[in-house]
Amino acid sequence: MTVRSTAGPAIRVQGLEKAYGTKAVLRGVDFDVARGSIFALLGSNGAGKTTTIRILSTLLKADAGTAAVNGFDVATQPADVRESISLTGQFAAVDEILTGRENLVLVAKLRHVADPGAVADDLLDRFSLTEAAARRTATYSGGMRRRLDIAMSLIGDSPVIFLDEPTAGLDPEARIEVWQTVQELAGHGTTVLLTTQYLEEAEQLADRIAILHQGRIIVNGTLTELKQLLPPAEIEYVEKQPTLEDVFLAITKDRA
Ligand SMILES: Nc1ncnc2c1ncn2[C@@H]1O[C@H](COP(=O)(O)OP(=O)(O)OP(=O)(O)O)[C@@H](O)[C@H]1O
Ligand SMILES: [Mg+2]
Repeated sequence: MTVRSTAGPAIRVQGLEKAYGTKAVLRGVDFDVARGSIFALLGSNGAGKTTTIRILSTLLKADAGTAAVNGFDVATQPADVRESISLTGQFAAVDEILTGRENLVLVAKLRHVADPGAVADDLLDRFSLTEAAARRTATYSGGMRRRLDIAMSLIGDSPVIFLDEPTAGLDPEARIEVWQTVQELAGHGTTVLLTTQYLEEAEQLADRIAILHQGRIIVNGTLTELKQLLPPAEIEYVEKQPTLEDVFLAITKDRA
């Protein structure tokens, strides 16, 4: 069992670089994620969000720089890192042949938890999937599948959870359900690193937001801090606060 290291941030990334062939994707990425916080990594298609998550979850080796998760170095202590994390990938990982409950029991057994059935039932309840528990997941809606996917990634109580575009393709209602789940997790002390292309998602959920652009983090702050980066609104009869989308577009335009 991994001893949970409590000092320092939950995630620390310093000078991370990664190229595929001659294509440099990460060109010196730095950020910290505080324990128990929700951190959103924003970026356009191909910005390197999934690449970053793959490096942090030890699925991919960086070319340079260091990254530590839960105090463990991803390059030299990968087994400890893997015991500290759970990962929900960009594409749902549920087995369609199995029912929702069977999927959960399977993961619980793989993770050697004490009472797989009870863990599964508890998660089904928390994710409002009890009624659908005995149905094959092939019949689930996109939102139900996502919720099951996230529920599966919670088995084992990992201190750090990575969610790669957790609400991609979901309708607004399902998206809000996933947001509530993520907020609940962070409320219980789990550290959440999520990637998203939905600016509203970052705006709603994240304690801190970082924008990954052309291989680097060009902005990293709270929503309030990010909004202050824009020049104050011109004098208007109605004052309009900039949305995160305004900030994102203005900042990435300057760097293009
Ligand atoms: N295995 C690979 N081999 C070559 N190029 C790759 C590989 N994986 C990713 N890339 C390229 O690296 C860049 C970053 O990809 P990545 O998947 O990290 O982006 P992303 O920010 O997650 O994008 P999206 O929002 O579309 O998911 C892209 O240009 C992608 O085509
Ligand atoms: Mg991606």
